[in-house]
Amino acid sequence: MLSKISETRKLFEEDLSKVNDLKSLEELRLKYLSRKGIVPQLFDDFKNVSKDEKKNVGLALNELKIFTQNQFDSIKEKFDSLSKSSNDSELDISLPGRQYQIGSKHLITQTIDEIKEIFKGLGFSVYEGPELESDYNNFGALNFPDDHPARDMQDTFFINKNFLLRTHTSPVQVRLMEQKKPPIRALMPGKVFRNEAISAKSYCLFHQIEGLVVDTDITFAELKGTLVGFVKQFFGQDVVYRFRASFFPFTEPSAEMDIWWQPKGKEGRWLEILGCGMVDPNVLINVGIDPEKYIGYAFGMGIERPAMRKYGIDDIRILFDSDIRFLRQF
Ligand code: DAH
Repeated sequence: MLSKISETRKLFEEDLSKVNDLKSLEELRLKYLSRKGIVPQLFDDFKNVSKDEKKNVGLALNELKIFTQNQFDSIKEKFDSLSKSSNDSELDISLPGRQYQIGSKHLITQTIDEIKEIFKGLGFSVYEGPELESDYNNFGALNFPDDHPARDMQDTFFINKNFLLRTHTSPVQVRLMEQKKPPIRALMPGKVFRNEAISAKSYCLFHQIEGLVVDTDITFAELKGTLVGFVKQFFGQDVVYRFRASFFPFTEPSAEMDIWWQPKGKEGRWLEILGCGMVDPNVLINVGIDPEKYIGYAFGMGIERPAMRKYGIDDIRILFDSDIRFLRQF
């Protein structure tokens, strides 16, 4: 009887290894485990086993029963989970694939990056300042007298009497000169805010890049050379430009730079692209730099307008709409 049991186990293992679908699994069950199957029949035969053999045979029989049942259960479980998962993911190969939308840099960020790269090549480092500024940094330290009409020129969003949303990036010059000793060669990009009527040409928010150089032997010629080098790299070597005398409270002398803009099929015209000048000695005094020893130049330009020129965009508002269909084109 014991040898019959171990033989059954071998046969069962052989048959089990051949099971490859639900049908053959069911055949295995019928052959070994069903009521008329081999294992229950061995239990029937158990009645005829002699008394002294009963204990050993009983143990072996039970072991066989547990073994065969467990093997059957675990294979059945595998088949069940397989058929379930293949039902879940009924594959429809005609379904269009999922589109993942990948973000990209905004045109303005790209333009700022491009300008930064040009000036980095000229030895400038990049600094940033806060968008919420003190009235002093935005105006006072930059030599705007308290009742100066220039304060109204830049329609200001005041937070309270002493704080405002900066109207230009020039206050970052003040912060930098207060913190850092010359020589300074800095580029300062950022958002600025003005309370202007919104139209295709102007928006309440835009971006500027400020430049500042302070050292012992700086000249106006160097300022011009730097800016000419910049417009040639940004707009192309054949760009036509000019400098015009101008006024800013924080520079003396001051100038504005224009480039000649010739849209296809339209009349060309001069476009102002930046303001610049030699840092006014009063500003140096305000930040604790000796104007007898140091001299500086500064410039400031808007980003939106040159970017619009360069990429042929005629409405500034579209730059702030976050319309993917527009932004994706760049
Ligand atoms: N802050 C000026 C503006 O917003 C632009 C400007 C002009 C900046 C001359 C400068 C400068 O640094 O030297 O209109």
